[in-house]
This record gives sequence, structure tokens and C-alpha cells, in this order.
Amino acid sequence: MSNVWYGLEEKVAVITGGSRGIGLELAKALVAQKAKVVVCGRKKEGLEAAVAAIDGGDRVLAVPAHIAKEEDVNALFDAAVKTFGHVDILINNVGMNLLTGSVVDTEPATWNKIIESNLTGTFLCSRKAAMIMRERKRGRIVSISSIAGRKAAPGMGIYGIAKAGIEMLTKVLAFELAQFNIQVNAVAPAMVKTDFSKPFWSNDAIRVEIEKGIPMGRIAEVEDVIHPVLFLCSDKAEFITGQVLVVDGGTLA
Ligand SMILES: NC(=O)c1ccc[n+]([C@@H]2O[C@H](COP(=O)([O-])OP(=O)(O)OC[C@H]3O[C@@H](n4cnc5c(N)ncnc54)[C@H](OP(=O)(O)O)[C@@H]3O)[C@@H](O)[C@H]2O)c1
Repeated sequence: MSNVWYGLEEKVAVITGGSRGIGLELAKALVAQKAKVVVCGRKKEGLEAAVAAIDGGDRVLAVPAHIAKEEDVNALFDAAVKTFGHVDILINNVGMNLLTGSVVDTEPATWNKIIESNLTGTFLCSRKAAMIMRERKRGRIVSISSIAGRKAAPGMGIYGIAKAGIEMLTKVLAFELAQFNIQVNAVAPAMVKTDFSKPFWSNDAIRVEIEKGIPMGRIAEVEDVIHPVLFLCSDKAEFITGQVLVVDGGTLA
């Protein structure tokens, strides 16, 4: 990661879904910026490997938590405050999709799982973080959305609906929390090279088709997403709130 300085020294950042992909690279980047990070994920083994990979010593705390479970979210933020004293930044990074056909042909139980892990979890974490941040009258919340929340796509219907909900949640929270000096924004990437999207970009024929739809002619690397998130967490973005920064190489242009 290139050496751009965002002024995040000693900030305490909670990153949901920090055990791999974008969340893991964000955790590494924040530790490199001399911040303290709390990562969560559902699987303990994934978190142990992440702590080793982040290599941040006592600047890193890993807490197993399912973000759609309120008791897990409460325990996550309680552990963050107990260890580091407060929370300056929340990055709502968890996102998941399940293989589905059309929305009409999807069972309600599948709808619930996708909405709960993406949208309800983002609400639960934002709510808890904002309660902590408003006491100190400062904070940043950045959620990772997706262009699937702005354009319908096969197999991504309910996921896209959840992401659209996250974008509206971003606006509502920005509106409500501005009085507490808490800025709330989102970053909406197109496909990024992580395990989540590997079935697509690792198949050459599919990758070429996808790249045809991206004016910049390539699929995003994780680093393309990291810098916009760090910028939105920095003091230089102090007057930006309620916005969604689309990182898509021109796909929706
Ligand atoms: N990759 C892309 O092409 C792409 C494009 C646009 C937007 N995005 C968005 O970017 C974000 C990160 O994606 P990614 O590609 O880095 O995903 P990823 O590689 O699949 O990683 C997801 C992370 O979230 C954790 N997680 C999943 N469900 C969870 C839950 N209910 N509670 C707690 N942790 C949970 C996973 O750990 P466990 O499995 O241990 O829980 C893992 O650490 C997501 O919001 C995704 O929607 C990704």
C-alpha cells in the first residue's frame, strides 16, 4: 500500500468482517496508519489468522461476532471500549450473498438471511457505535455498499436491495448524527478481487466479459477501495456526510 498519510494515529476503528478480503486489508492499512483496530467475523480460526496477518501487536483486537445478532454486536463494542477506551471509527464492511434465482422465486428464509447479515447488521453496529461516539461528540461511520444497490443484476437482487437500504441508512444517520459531529458515508465498489467474487474474476472467459462493461477496463483491486475509505475517515473529509462514493471504474457512468 502506498505511503499516503491520513492523520489517523491513535484512532480506534471497529471493522466488521475483518478476517479476509477488503476488511482484512483495511485493518492492515489502519494499523500502518498507527490506528488501533478491532476486527470481527463469525469464525474464530479466520480471526486468528487475520490477527497474525495484520501483525499489529496490542493495537489489534479480534472479537468473534455475528453482526446480525444484537448480543454479539453489544459484546463487540463493549470489548472495543474495554480495551481501547472509546470508538472513533466504524467501518461496516460485512457483506454476504447467497445463490438465488429471481426475487420472486426466493424463499422468505433466504431473503431474511441476506437482509439480516447485510442491512440489519449494519443498523445494529451503526446504532451501537453512534451511542458511544455521541458521548464524545465525534465519530465516523463508513459502510461498504455495492453498485448492486444501484443497478439490478442477476443473482444479486436481495443483496442489492440490502445495499440500497444501507445507502439510505447512510443518509438518515448522517442527517440525525450531524448534531453530534458524527459523519456517515458509504463507498460503493463494483467487483473487487476478493474471495467473495473469485468465482467470477478467476474464470478468464467471465472476467473478460465483466471487463467489457467497465470503462476503465479492469476489475478493482482491494487497494482501490482502501484509499477512499481512509479518506472518508480522515479529518480532510470533515464536511462530507450522507454521501456514497462510487468506486466502479466508470461502470455506472
Ligand atoms: N468483492 C467484491 O466484488 C465486492 C464488490 C462490491 C462490494 N463489496 C462489499 O465489500 C464488503 C467486503 O467484501 P469482501 O469481498 O471483502 O468479502 P469477503 O471476502 O467475503 O469477506 C467477508 C468478511 O465478512 C465476515 N462476515 C460475513 N458475514 C458476517 C456476519 N454475519 N457477521 C460477522 N462477520 C461476517 C467474513 O468472516 P466470517 O466468514 O468468519 O464471518 C469475512 O471476514 C462487503 O460488504 C461486500 O458486499 C464487495
